[in-house]
Amino acid sequence: MTSNKLTTLGIHAIRSGKVRDLYSWKDELWLVASDRLSAFDVILPTPIPDKGKILTQLSRFWLEKFASIVPNQVISFELPEGIGLPEFSGRLVRAKKCEVIPLECVARGYVAGSGWKEYKESGTVGGFALPSGLQESSKLPQPLFTPAKKNDEGHDENLSESEAKVFVGEDLYLKLKTLTLKLYSEAFDYAASRGIIIADTKFEFGWYEGQVLLIDEVLTPDSSRFWPSTHYQPGKSQSSYDKQFVRDYLSSLNWNQQPPGPELPPVIVEQTLAKYREAYEKLAGRGTDG
Ligand SMILES: Nc1ncnc2c1ncn2[C@@H]1O[C@H](COP(=O)(O)OP(=O)(O)O)[C@@H](O)[C@H]1O
Ligand SMILES: [Mg+2]
Repeated sequence: MTSNKLTTLGIHAIRSGKVRDLYSWKDELWLVASDRLSAFDVILPTPIPDKGKILTQLSRFWLEKFASIVPNQVISFELPEGIGLPEFSGRLVRAKKCEVIPLECVARGYVAGSGWKEYKESGTVGGFALPSGLQESSKLPQPLFTPAKKNDEGHDENLSESEAKVFVGEDLYLKLKTLTLKLYSEAFDYAASRGIIIADTKFEFGWYEGQVLLIDEVLTPDSSRFWPSTHYQPGKSQSSYDKQFVRDYLSSLNWNQQPPGPELPPVIVEQTLAKYREAYEKLAGRGTDG
């Protein structure tokens, strides 16, 4: 749609993230999830139709499930009356515009990704000493809070516990840690009962009228590592729930993992979409309890 049409409606583009587009409307922040997919940190030219809707509905499911644990950003998932924008329908979160707390609140239940790299080098994850003999993708003795400093440019910077305490203040640190581990453990148990391991995830929080709110997207495959429980096998990296077909396909090409990324063939798009639908149905599926 044209930015002209949006402006007429009082909607102003703020920025485009990798996957989501941000707008302001009156005093609200609108998060609109596109169908863009990133792999190896590169946005691919081929969209996955409906991915943005599925991930928005998955975030919605968790936000509503956790509403009694932590207040959140949500004003509504529906367009305001009188604003006809079918392009936004199902992909939109109308959020309270918060002052973002610049700490990525990461919870890890398994040794993977940068955690595995750190463990191999120093026997620690997030600076916490761990038993020796853990393998790649091993379950941790207990989930860890391993926050990182949000950087506008470049990669986020992992902080030790003491650095993070200095960075946001000790009281806020303890609050964010408690909330993060509580949300992670609730989500973990729930997902495990439905065949999905949430190996780790990232939450963001923001200040709004003196209150700490849960913001951004929540427990989607874009903000988390989801693994299918049936294929879990420590000692190697696990195939990703949603991106396994894309990564396998890309690895079969002679692509150097630098932009621009290659187009995806229709069969890979179909298989990937099916994985997003499957994750949504397993976790939030209608006709089941929870
Ligand atoms: N309720 C909110 N209030 C203010 N900022 C928010 C809120 N929810 C999310 N954000 C911010 O919006 C931005 C989303 O952009 P980005 O993460 O780049 O998008 P993507 O995840 O699609 O790449 C993040 O910086 C996040 O902190
Ligand atoms: Mg983001």
